[in-house]
Amino acid sequence: MQENPLSRAAAARPAQGTGLTLHEPAQDADWWREAVVYQVYVPSFSDSDGDGMGDLRGVTARLGHLAGLGVDALWLTPFYPSPWADGGYDVSDYRDVDPRHGTLDDFRELLARAHGHGLKIIIDIVPNHCSDQHPWFVEALASAPGSAARDRFHFRDGLGAPPGPPSGPAAREVGGGPGGSEPPADWQSKFGGGAWSRTRDGQWYMHIFAAEQPDLNWENPEVAADFERTLRFWLDLGVDGFRVDVAHRLRKDLVPPLRATHGNDAAPLNSPPQGDNHPFWDRDEVHEIYRSWRKVLDAYEPPRIAVAEAGVSAARLPMYTRPGELHQAFNFFHLRCPWDARSFRDVIDTSLGGARSVGTLPTWVLSNHDVVRHVTRYGLPEGTDLNEWLLTDGREPAPDLARGRRRARAAALLTLALPGTAYLYQGEELGLPEVADLPAGALRDPMWERTGHAQKGRDGCRVPLPWQEDGPSYGFGPSGGWLPQPKGWGGFSAEAQTGRADSFLELYRTALRLRRGFRGSEGVEWLPAEDGEVAFRRGGVLECRVNLSGRPVPLTSGGEPLLSSDVGSGEGMLAPDTAVWLKPAVRGG
Ligand code: GLC
Repeated sequence: MQENPLSRAAAARPAQGTGLTLHEPAQDADWWREAVVYQVYVPSFSDSDGDGMGDLRGVTARLGHLAGLGVDALWLTPFYPSPWADGGYDVSDYRDVDPRHGTLDDFRELLARAHGHGLKIIIDIVPNHCSDQHPWFVEALASAPGSAARDRFHFRDGLGAPPGPPSGPAAREVGGGPGGSEPPADWQSKFGGGAWSRTRDGQWYMHIFAAEQPDLNWENPEVAADFERTLRFWLDLGVDGFRVDVAHRLRKDLVPPLRATHGNDAAPLNSPPQGDNHPFWDRDEVHEIYRSWRKVLDAYEPPRIAVAEAGVSAARLPMYTRPGELHQAFNFFHLRCPWDARSFRDVIDTSLGGARSVGTLPTWVLSNHDVVRHVTRYGLPEGTDLNEWLLTDGREPAPDLARGRRRARAAALLTLALPGTAYLYQGEELGLPEVADLPAGALRDPMWERTGHAQKGRDGCRVPLPWQEDGPSYGFGPSGGWLPQPKGWGGFSAEAQTGRADSFLELYRTALRLRRGFRGSEGVEWLPAEDGEVAFRRGGVLECRVNLSGRPVPLTSGGEPLLSSDVGSGEGMLAPDTAVWLKPAVRGG
């Protein structure tokens, strides 16, 4: 299915004699400001017991690999009890471990061993919604309309059906009849279909995601109190922080009559809809929650941290990281940036400026468990509709994976050169491409069914990791994985890449080692650059040059080469889709 990544990979030049110090992982209270956080998508990372599902013991067994890679922290995606309507983001008990992923004791062991390696642990918290199997929702369904149990969620009476069969989105906005058979508003679920589902007694409840993920009512003090309990439960166990799922959606404007959104909430996952004052997107009131959470986090010694997943505009993103709120927010602008020098410069300027305006540093993200892997994205023509492309099983158009890999390697050096925190998604250090041709029968993302097969969803970036060249699941576990791995997947494995100077893995290892020496140098100074080139300097520690144009550009720097994403660059030239790190020449020297 996929060509072996190593057969045509360009070589990285490991740094030699750079004079940079190798530090231990950051231990101080500000460790998160300039860290590298590795996202462990638990179901697909490593399976210790052969049930095909990644587990906590599997993560513990691989801690040596992660420490050796040189990351500072792990973000673990949900491992809590869940019916798995949305891969664990439908939580039925916030203070336990799902048997498919292990036990609380396994978690304690993982935490202790990670800390022993100098690795911090950040866990996912999912406060916008719970599972429909959570005891609260079960109780709500068994209780009468208007009851206290229903007030923990958003239950409403429906609108009356208009005469004749409903047609088109406008039909949902028309109310007035007595039937209550129409949803209370036209709001759309992110996973397809409406955001309201009807219960047996005729009331409707709201869910931004799948119907099995009812949204919680954050105006109910019981909800807030219970989440504080959950935060403290994990903090008392010793976790170092939280990744806050859909942090921008928790508060809603449900004052009747509910406002119509005219489909304006159907923007892709993590990108903001048009306009402001949306009834359930990025409302000002949501910040009250984070101000109270910050007090909880700060009461621990050392203080713990939180990072927001907030798909909001660049102008509003810094609000989530104002003093007294959360520490960081994912930078999806970097992830979505087209392969173009001017666009990257704009994104970097905006991200640095926004973060500085609230006294912090940005984050940098290229991939996660919700998007097509960036090796593949960079191999597709600019502007490709990724959903349409997935529906062709990744054939139309065929991605140019050699180009995608070159760009992904250059993007890694660009990303890791920037001040702030980089979030890596498991497998990007192996250069994994998207698996776009998973058989329909294997798909587990609720988007697939909820959209009536109009959207394949996100399974293609969640295929279990290869650790070895051979074996039943290329070392993922003792048997097969929960999603099928492509033939030849073992060619991407850590085993196959270790010790090969031209591999993705060794490029990441070297880059992470060097990056420790850049910490504390927070300024970015743009340097004169060729057309299509991005060039900047961080104090006396780093000069980074990236050629995003389609032709070689002269390498005009007196700096000493530290690392290149490609050996294809001739002497004095920087090849297309290539990045280079240099130790800046002493000025005036
Ligand atoms: C976030 C998660 C995604 C999940 C959704 C609903 O966007 O990253 O995987 O499906 O929230 O919880």
